[in-house]
Amino acid sequence: MRMYDIIMKKRNGGELTREEIRYFVEGYTKGEIPDYQVSALMMAIYFRKMTEAETYELTMAMAHSGDMLDLSGIRGVKVDKHSTGGVGDKTSLVLAPIAAACGISVAKMSGRGLGHTGGTIDKLESFPGFTTALTRERFIDNVNRIGIAIMGQTADLAPADKKLYALRDVTATVDNMSLIASSIMSKKLAAGADAIVLDVKTGSGAFMKEEKDARALAEEMVKIGKSAGRTTVAVISDMDQPLGRAVGNALEVKEAIDTLNGRGPEDLMELCLTLGSRMLLAGGKAETEEQAVEKLRDAVESGAALKKLAQFVEAQGGDSRAVYHTELLPQAKILLPVPAPQDGYVSHIACDEVGICSLILGGGRETKESEIDLSVGLVLHKKVGDYAKAGETLAVIHANDRAKAEQAAQRFLSACTFAESAPKRTPFIKAVLSQTGGA
Ligand code: URA
Repeated sequence: MRMYDIIMKKRNGGELTREEIRYFVEGYTKGEIPDYQVSALMMAIYFRKMTEAETYELTMAMAHSGDMLDLSGIRGVKVDKHSTGGVGDKTSLVLAPIAAACGISVAKMSGRGLGHTGGTIDKLESFPGFTTALTRERFIDNVNRIGIAIMGQTADLAPADKKLYALRDVTATVDNMSLIASSIMSKKLAAGADAIVLDVKTGSGAFMKEEKDARALAEEMVKIGKSAGRTTVAVISDMDQPLGRAVGNALEVKEAIDTLNGRGPEDLMELCLTLGSRMLLAGGKAETEEQAVEKLRDAVESGAALKKLAQFVEAQGGDSRAVYHTELLPQAKILLPVPAPQDGYVSHIACDEVGICSLILGGGRETKESEIDLSVGLVLHKKVGDYAKAGETLAVIHANDRAKAEQAAQRFLSACTFAESAPKRTPFIKAVLSQTGGA
């Protein structure tokens, strides 16, 4: 087999076979096929697309390019939850403890921030001492003991995806449905959970700006999960403005704790109940959606979910006192309010721009090696549909550098649009797609 022939076949619109896909994935992972040939193939796939069968084969080849985690040592149904990425998306910090308090085994693989979007691992590191570098034994033991463990992607897990993703990032070949679906699903399948609940974001802060594209991506991933024998559910949710009010690592942790105390923002709670009910149904802990929602609400109201968060933080080396005393989380020195420039309804907030404000403040990485400032970010006082009088606070910037604070404030203002009348409300949850594993 020759890589040249594989590139030419795809360039001419042909369908690659399982053997051809395995050949290039294995060869690339081992360093036997050079970047330039794989780049050419990625571009051919970008323009010619992949069939369902090709996408499935690519996913499986990448999932098997490294270790497949064996979670059989964990009792019960293991459920993983994954978001396609957004701004202010602290859902896992709330949902994992709630679901665990309801008896679900949450065995989760998380990532760090990517571009303008945040990552669960960075957020969790706001707890002093917290680590996601767990051995497999400790990961399994923690899930069995307390119901949750979260670890980062190791070098042995789907290494083909790691290499391909980095290549796509610099060759303008990221935003292809099959390539995204196979990238996400290869990691989820390798991470070993029985059921996968996907939160597919759509809107200005998401990867998929258009709802139809988010739906196509969700459908593709659900089909892959089913063919691989895993129960897979996808919820399509709004990311046209930040989720909740806080954006920035420690600020989001604090908002997650507020939510577990029953004082969280409505959109975040709605999302947690929607995703959480699917986790409970998939894990056999509820018979109906209504029953699942009731259990989830009980876990918050009884304080069981908050206690679970504290146990989880402690089990991964973090200072769990911060769960009850949030002033122990990293705090920024400068608080700069951003006043509304005019009277009017907030009609739109360019969500990716809000993520960039957090990056400007130091809350995300400029390069792979950058150290991030966990304390910085912003808290929105007004969201889309709210009325603001001129001079009223739209948001508060949390910073450690005055010049950066002012730059972020300007950028935030430019991201907001105002109107004389209230904008039309659109549903926050756009759709739920599900399929039980077993092709
Ligand atoms: N997230 C991933 O893990 N892979 C992609 O290709 C896009 C988003």
